[in-house]
Amino acid sequence: MNQSTEYGVFLPNAAGGWMISSTAPYPPADYDYNREVAVLAEEAGLDFVMAMAKWRGFGGATDHWGETIESMTMMAGIAEATSRVRIWATVHANMQNPAFAAKVFTTLQQIAGGRAGMNIVNGAYADEFEQMGLWDPSVTKAERYRMTTEWTELVLRLWSEDSVTHAGEFFTLNDCVSKPHPSTRPTIISAGTSEEGRAFQARYADGAFLGADSLDDMRVLAADVHERAIAEGRSIKAYSMLTVVVDETDAAAEARAVEYGRGLDREALANMRRSWGIPADRALAWAEGASGEQAFQTAYVTGSPETVAAHIRSVVDTAGLDGLMLIFPDYLADLPVFGERVLPLLRAAEADA
Ligand SMILES: Cc1cc2nc3c(=O)[nH]c(=O)nc-3n(C[C@H](O)[C@H](O)[C@H](O)COP(=O)(O)O)c2cc1C
Repeated sequence: MNQSTEYGVFLPNAAGGWMISSTAPYPPADYDYNREVAVLAEEAGLDFVMAMAKWRGFGGATDHWGETIESMTMMAGIAEATSRVRIWATVHANMQNPAFAAKVFTTLQQIAGGRAGMNIVNGAYADEFEQMGLWDPSVTKAERYRMTTEWTELVLRLWSEDSVTHAGEFFTLNDCVSKPHPSTRPTIISAGTSEEGRAFQARYADGAFLGADSLDDMRVLAADVHERAIAEGRSIKAYSMLTVVVDETDAAAEARAVEYGRGLDREALANMRRSWGIPADRALAWAEGASGEQAFQTAYVTGSPETVAAHIRSVVDTAGLDGLMLIFPDYLADLPVFGERVLPLLRAAEADA
C-alpha cells in the first residue's frame, strides 16, 4: 500500500449530501453544518476537505441539491475554522474571469496559510448554465477543455508574472495585474475521466479525481494519469470517491444501506441523469427500474470498522490510488467513528507494509 494514502471528505454543501433518498439523513445546505463537518474531519485525522460548486438541483420528493451554498466563500470560512486539513474549493472556469479566480485563490491561500486548493471545473451541465444564459449547446467537450486550458494558463501566469497580456481564443487580458502573488501556488485539482480530462489533469493538476465502473478500469485510468503526468515532467495524485456506511457490525451497516435504498428518490435520480444529457424519457424509465443501491451517488462500502478498513485498503491497492475522498450518509455521527475506529486500522496497515 502507498505509504501516504490521503483521505479526505466531500463536504455536503448541497442539501441532501450524496444520498438521493427520503429515508437517509438530510444534510442541510448550511455553513454551520459544513464547518462542523470540516472540523470533525480535521479532528478525525483526515487530510483534506473539498466542496463542489453547484448551481441547480434535481427536484423530486427530496428536492435533492435544491439548496446549495457557494464553494469558495464557504471554504474561506472553513479555512479560518481549521488549522491542518487542506482546503479545496471549486471554481467554474466558464463563469469566472481568470483574473477573478487568481485573486480569490490568492486570498484563500492567505486565509488557509498555504493549505488552499483550486478544483477547476469547466461547467458541463446544461441545466445549471441555461438559467444564467451561459450555455451554448453547440460547444463540444473538446472546446470546453480548450477554454479551461487557456483559463488555467492565465491563472498560473497571473499568480507568477508582474503583468499578463494575452489575446486568445476565449480570453483577452491587457497588462493585467494580480498582486500579491500567492506565497505558495494553490494545489490544482481536476475531476474527469474523459480523454480530454486526463490530458488536462496531466498538464496542470496536482490531483485528479477519477471515476470508473470497476476497480480494474480505475487501475487503468490511475496508471494512465500517472504516466501522462510523467510524460509532462510532472507528478500527479490519483483519487476516487467512496461512500462509507460504518456501524458496529456488518449486519447493522448493511441494514442502514437497505433502509436508505428504500427511500430512493426516483424523480430526483431521473432528473440528475437528464442533467448529464440523457434524454428525459430514457432517464425516467431507467430510474423507475433502478435498485435501492442507486440512492448512493458513488461506490459505497458497508460494514464494521474492520470490514470498512479492509475494503478501503483493497480499493486503494487494487486501483493504485493515492487517496480517497469519503462521503458519509450521517457526517456528524459517522466521521468520529471513522476517525477513531477505521483510520487507525488503515494507518497501522500502512506502517506494516
Ligand atoms: C470529485 C468530483 C468533483 C466534482 N466537482 C464538480 C463541481 O463542483 N462542479 C461541477 O460542475 N462539476 C464537478 N464535477 C464534474 C467534473 O468537473 C466533470 O465535469 C466530470 O467529472 C466529467 O468530466 P469528463 O467529461 O472529463 O470525464 C466533479 C466531479 C468529480 C468526480
